[in-house]
Amino acid sequence: MNSMKVGLLGFGVVGSGTWEVLKNNAEEIARRAGKKIEIVSIADKDVNKVKSRLSAYDLNNISVLNDAYSLINDPNIDIVIELIGGDTVPLELILKSIENGKHIVTANKALLAKHGNKIFSTAHKKGVMVLFEAAVAGGIPIIKAIREGLTANKIEWIAGIINGTTNFILSEMKNTGMNFEIVLAKAKELGYAELDPTFDIEGIDAAHKITLLSSIAFGIPIQFDKTYIEGISKLSQIDINYAEQLGYRLKLIAITKKRDKGIEIRVHPTLIPENCLLANVEGAMNAVLVQSDAVGPTMYYGQGAGSFPTASAIIADLVDVTRSYKVDPHYRVPYLAFQPNSLSDYRILHIDDVITSYYLRITTIDKPGVLSDISKILTDFNISVKSMVQKSSNKEITDIVFLTHDAIEKDIKNAISKIEILSFVKNKITCIRVEKLV
Ligand code: HSE
Repeated sequence: MNSMKVGLLGFGVVGSGTWEVLKNNAEEIARRAGKKIEIVSIADKDVNKVKSRLSAYDLNNISVLNDAYSLINDPNIDIVIELIGGDTVPLELILKSIENGKHIVTANKALLAKHGNKIFSTAHKKGVMVLFEAAVAGGIPIIKAIREGLTANKIEWIAGIINGTTNFILSEMKNTGMNFEIVLAKAKELGYAELDPTFDIEGIDAAHKITLLSSIAFGIPIQFDKTYIEGISKLSQIDINYAEQLGYRLKLIAITKKRDKGIEIRVHPTLIPENCLLANVEGAMNAVLVQSDAVGPTMYYGQGAGSFPTASAIIADLVDVTRSYKVDPHYRVPYLAFQPNSLSDYRILHIDDVITSYYLRITTIDKPGVLSDISKILTDFNISVKSMVQKSSNKEITDIVFLTHDAIEKDIKNAISKIEILSFVKNKITCIRVEKLV
């Protein structure tokens, strides 16, 4: 075999970017990989779109198909890149490709978050590689960093801004003072948000990604159904302003932490100190902070989406396959960083058992006794207040903002439900988790 033969499923923004970068940087890539890597087949439902993009040379050398099965059944193909998206058709195609002995490269986080365990165990039996650098934080080589670069460490926690759409929206809300709906419309106009932005704004995309990072950080099976998810669609400008006044930024943070009793995996709006590096990741950029025992904190920053950045990650995986496809599978980097027979059954903690600190905004009538009644409830639930500010909007109604020390989530929820029924409390309490990230 004098070149590595690749079949590409899906020729959208990322697929065409992969084809283009492979072509532009072919010589460098071949020098690194040890042999040429060439796309020999592309399957897409819009064959004309693909053909109109390819040069005459490509059209002579690449088969353009509208049937994905012809591609994955082609014995000439060594690696299948899956860039179709979604989680039903790609699952079938990937399992069949594995059965056919192909190595797999995919950017499909939704698929891996739901079906990764099955895909990896099937691939393990067959002795093929499944690589997914592009599935988390686009062009940032975070999977490689955790699986290989940090392999000496016990990882303590990971916190990331791993959804560019929501980071763009929150940055714009802070910088312009506009509300969520207006900024979301702008994000759609600029092409940051999908027409149906649910996966992004409700935190699901970030949850897929942090679920995968948690597995490779702690050596646990992928457990997306136990990941806690809360999006940004209910956030209001008022809390962004108060957060700023208190020295915090409001971000959608994806976190996974190892604790004595188990592992936390959660995605939610979070206040983080304004002087920490993550707080200054603006616009659609992504960043991941990893706290490990030997090296301490390391941080990775870059573009989490887009044609060439994502292609960069996909091609890195193609090079990895090319360098090691002949290696005995036992000596390859394991799918989830830990050897398949050494995965752990650490419990995933329920959100009620999470320990962190909290921002509580309580809108009340401004009269004597209010603070003492609220404080008593907080004390009853063992919640210690770190700081408190009162912001009056008019003579009778005021916002009281509490920042707590670390508390158990279920205590906070119980305290909130007791405070909300006090006669002088006017609205539902806004509760936002606060992370120190140190
Ligand atoms: N929709 C994602 C984001 C990019 O906004 O970051 C692909 O995962």
